[in-house]
Amino acid sequence: MKSNYILVLGAAGNIGSKIAHELLAAGATVALAGRSRNRLQQFEGKATILEGDFSDDAFLQQAFAGATSLFLTIPDEHLANPAATAARLGKLLQGTPVTHIVNISNSIIYKAGAPTRLVAMEQELNKLLGVHIKHLRCANFFENLNWGLHTPYAPDLKLPYISSYEVASIAARHLLHPTFEGKTVEVLLGPRDYTMAELAAAAGVQYEQLPYTSENEFFYKPFNEGDFKVEARTKENTSVLTEPRFTLEYFLENDFVKQLA
Ligand SMILES: NC(=O)c1ccc[n+]([C@@H]2O[C@H](COP(=O)([O-])OP(=O)(O)OC[C@H]3O[C@@H](n4cnc5c(N)ncnc54)[C@H](OP(=O)(O)O)[C@@H]3O)[C@@H](O)[C@H]2O)c1
Repeated sequence: MKSNYILVLGAAGNIGSKIAHELLAAGATVALAGRSRNRLQQFEGKATILEGDFSDDAFLQQAFAGATSLFLTIPDEHLANPAATAARLGKLLQGTPVTHIVNISNSIIYKAGAPTRLVAMEQELNKLLGVHIKHLRCANFFENLNWGLHTPYAPDLKLPYISSYEVASIAARHLLHPTFEGKTVEVLLGPRDYTMAELAAAAGVQYEQLPYTSENEFFYKPFNEGDFKVEARTKENTSVLTEPRFTLEYFLENDFVKQLA
C-alpha cells in the first residue's frame, strides 16, 4: 500500500466523491475508502481504493497507517454514541502518521432542546483525538432536494443551503494545505437562506407541504415549531460564489432529480 496519502472516507458519497475529484485534479496522492469497490470504479487506476466498513477496526487502522490527513464523515449509526465512536477513532489513530482531520458537521447546532448529533460528535472528537481537526459546519446541501422537494417543512421555513461542490472544494483545500492547528470550526452557510416555497419555485413547481408521518414527525416538527438553532449568518460564512457550479441554478440544471419534484 502507498503511504503518505490523503485518505477520504465515504469516498463514493456525495461529498466524498467530489473531494476525491478535487484532490486528484490537484495531483495529490489519494486513498479512497468505501464499502463497495464497485461504487468507487470511476477512481480505479487514479487512487488507492480501500474497500471496507467504518465499523471494522482492522480496516480503519490499516487505512490510517498510510495517511497524513483525512476527510472524516461519520456514518449515521456511529453518531448514536459519540463518546464511544470518538474513543475508538482516538485509539485507532494512535501511532499513525495522521496529523490533520477535516470533519463534516452541521450548521444546525441545536434541535429539540439538544445539540445536534454531528455537533455532539465534534465535542467528543475534540476531547479524544490527539490531532488537528477542522469541523466544517455545513448548511443543508442542495442535494437534499433530491430526497423529495415536497416535505412536512412549513412553506415559509427558512434554512441555509449550500452546494456540495463548494463544501468539497473547501474541504479539499484544507486537506491539500493542512495549515490549521488545534480544534477549529468553520461555518459554511452557502449564498443565502431559502424558504421551501422559494426552492420549489426555483425548480418550477408550487410547494406542497406534506403531513407528518409517525416516522418523520420527530425530524420535521422541531423545525416548524422554531425549536432549533442555526449558526448566525455573517459576511465570513456566506459564500461568495466564486464558481457557477456553486449556485442553486447549477444544481437545478445539472444534478436535480426532476421527476421527484
Ligand atoms: N445532507 C445535508 O444537508 C448535510 C448537511 C450537513 C452535514 N451533512 C453530513 O454530511 C455527511 C456526508 O453527506 P453526503 O451527502 O456525502 O452523504 P452520502 O452521499 O450518503 O455519503 C456518505 C458515504 O458514507 C459511506 N458510508 C455509510 N456507512 C458506512 C459505513 N458503515 N462504512 C463505511 N462507509 C460508510 C457511504 O459509502 P458506501 O455506501 O459507498 O459504502 C456513503 O458513500 C452526511 O453523512 C451528514 O452527516 C449533511
